[in-house]
Amino acid sequence: MKVTVFDHPLIQHKISIMRSVETSCKEFRELVKEVTMFMCYESLRDMPLKDVEVTTPLTTCKTKMLAGQEIAVVPILRAGLGMVEGVLELVPTAKVGHIGLYRDEVTMKPHAYYCKLPKNIDERCIIVTDPMLATGGSAVAAINFIKERGGKNIKFMCMIAAPEGLKVLTEAHPDVDVYCAHLDEGLNEHCYILPGLGDAGDRIFGTK
Ligand code: PRP
Ligand code: URA
Repeated sequence: MKVTVFDHPLIQHKISIMRSVETSCKEFRELVKEVTMFMCYESLRDMPLKDVEVTTPLTTCKTKMLAGQEIAVVPILRAGLGMVEGVLELVPTAKVGHIGLYRDEVTMKPHAYYCKLPKNIDERCIIVTDPMLATGGSAVAAINFIKERGGKNIKFMCMIAAPEGLKVLTEAHPDVDVYCAHLDEGLNEHCYILPGLGDAGDRIFGTK
């Protein structure tokens, strides 16, 4: 298990703009996509390569190309949808699954309402996306779903993580590599991340 918290200045800058209550829905959506692209680039560092021979205008050379490992991006609905485009921008051939979960506002436990994954999920590198890792309940439940359906090679990517959620996730799924753009201070009494950025779904979709 590997946890990567990004310290790159561009990511820190963009996350700070996302936090601001002044940032519009349009800007917020664009920033989610941009930060996802940066994180996706790093998270795919271990993609397998194969040797190929290429003819340049001057000569031939032995070089490397992607070995063609299939990728699936699986957003946790709804806010995770905002990160899909960022992954597809870098990996346009990736297939997309969906897991529908919402957090009960009283118990804070995740409730599942949908799960549809691409075929051959057991052979794919799977990137689960959700901007917020708060208590960790939704991420753990989503990864349970994927594993029950055969998924093995799983990465989890979020914008903001709370230490509480990170602990729950890494203990439940120690085999999953976790990528977060920022690790925040903790949760408030309503299990919202502080300082956080509010309700990610509402900010991406302009609800509320
Ligand atoms: C948010 C967020 C995560 C979850 C995180 O979704 O996008 O899925 O809460 O909280 P947790 O780590 O405590 O489980 P929400 O349930 O608000 O649903 P939405 O995306 O439909 O707004
Ligand atoms: N979900 C969100 O969208 N934001 C939080 O701070 C916690 C859960």
